Amino acid sequence: MRNFEFYTPTKVIFGKDTHLQAGELVKEQHCKKVLVHYGGQSARKSGLLDEVFHSLDEAGIAYTELGGVVPNPRLSKVYEGIELCKKEGVDFILAVGGGSVIDSGKAIAYGLANPDIDVWDLYAKKTTAKACLPVGAILTIAAAGSEMSNSSVITNEKGWLKRGYNDDLCRCKFAILNPRLTYTLPQYQTESGCVDILMHTMERYFVNVETMEMTDSISESLMQTVIYNARILMREPGNYNARAEVMWAGSLSHNGLTGCGTGGGDWACHQLEHELGGMFDVAHGAGLAAIWGSWARYVYQENPDRFAQFATNVFDIPYDGLSPETTALRGIEAMEEFYRSIQMPTNLRELGLELTDEQIHQLAFKCSFEDTRTIGMFKQLNMKDMEKIYAMAR
Ligand code: NZQ
Ligand code: ZN
Repeated sequence: MRNFEFYTPTKVIFGKDTHLQAGELVKEQHCKKVLVHYGGQSARKSGLLDEVFHSLDEAGIAYTELGGVVPNPRLSKVYEGIELCKKEGVDFILAVGGGSVIDSGKAIAYGLANPDIDVWDLYAKKTTAKACLPVGAILTIAAAGSEMSNSSVITNEKGWLKRGYNDDLCRCKFAILNPRLTYTLPQYQTESGCVDILMHTMERYFVNVETMEMTDSISESLMQTVIYNARILMREPGNYNARAEVMWAGSLSHNGLTGCGTGGGDWACHQLEHELGGMFDVAHGAGLAAIWGSWARYVYQENPDRFAQFATNVFDIPYDGLSPETTALRGIEAMEEFYRSIQMPTNLRELGLELTDEQIHQLAFKCSFEDTRTIGMFKQLNMKDMEKIYAMAR
C-alpha cells in the first residue's frame, strides 16, 4: 500500500427532508450574506428553490440569487457571479444543483477570495489559490461527486477549453444529500450520473501499481452497488432505496476514499472526456461511457491481472482455466453490456458524434495540451495514443 493522505472535511446531512435544514446549516457558518446559486429550470420547477429560500428566511439569513448555470458550466457565468457577489457583499455560496452548479459556485468562491488574479488562471494552471470562500451544497443529481471532492471543472468559451482545478480549499462545508431530490431527473441524467460515479472509482482502481485489499474491497463493493441499483432505476425511477444507495456511492466515489493507497489514480478517461465536453457539450457520464471501452482495450495488456480481478470481483466472471487476458476482455465486455443495458453509449457514434479525422486530431491536440503532456498512470498516453483511442471509440 502506498503512502496517502485522506482529508474529507465535508459535513454530510443525508436523507428525507434534509434540505429543510439549509437555513440552520448556513447559520452555523456565521456569514453575512449568501449567494443561492442554481441551474436552469429543475430546482425552480420542483419547488426546491422556494423551500430553500423559506428555510433561509426562517433562519434570518440574507441572500441573493443567481441561476442559469448550464451543464459543462461556463466561465462567463462565473465572472457574472463574482461581480454580483462583490456588489452584494456575499460571503457564503450555497449551490443548489448538480456538479455543474457546485463547480460554478466553487469557481466564484475562488474568484472572490483571490481578487488579485483572473480566476481562469487557476484552471489554466498558471497560478494557485491562496483561499476560497466557504461553499455548501444541496445536491440534486448523484453523479460528479463535487459535493465532497476537492475539484471543480469549468469551460472557457474562448477556445471551448474544459479544465479542472483541484485544491482542498474548495471542499464543501456541508453537503445536503436528499435522495428524493433526484426523483425528477430524466432517465438519461440518472444513468449518466451512475456512469460518472463508477468512473470515479475505476479511475482510482485501474492503477498499474501494487494495490491494497481494503481499498480494493471498498471499490469493488461500491461498483457492484452502483451497477445493481442503476439497473433498478431503469425500471423504478421512484425507488427511494436505489436512489439513496446511488447518491451515497456518488459522494464516497469521489471524496478520496477509493483512492487511498493507489498513488493518485489514472484519470485518462476523464481527461479524454473533458475535451468532448468542451468541444461538443455532451453529458459528462455519457461521454465517459463512450470512451471507456476503447481506453480499456488499448491499455489492459499493461496489467491483465488487474482487469481480470475487476472481471471476477465486480462481474463474477470465473477466473478458472482462463488466461488473465481472456478474463480481462470478458470484464470489459461485461461493463459495456452494462452500459448498453442502462442505455448509455459505448462509442462516440452512439453518443451522437460523427467525428472527422481532423476533429479526432484536434481533440488529442487539446487533450495533450498541444502535445506537451502525457495522461494516465495505468499506461502513460501521449498525443498519438490519445488520437488512437478517440479513433477506436468512433
Ligand atoms: O440546470 P437544471 O435545470 O437543474 O438541469 C440539470 C442539467 O440539465 C439537470 N438536473 C439536475 N438535477 C436535477 C435535474 N433535472 C431534474 N431534476 C433534478 N433533480 O441535470 C442536468 C445535468 O446537471 P449537471 O450539474 O451538469 O450534472 P452533473 O452532476 O453530472 O455535473 C457534471 C459536471 O461536473 C463535472 C463534469 O465535468 C460536468 O461539467 N465534474 C465535476 C467533478 C468535481 N467537481 O469533482 C468531477 C467529475 O468528474 C466531473 O468532471
Ligand atoms: Zn467524472
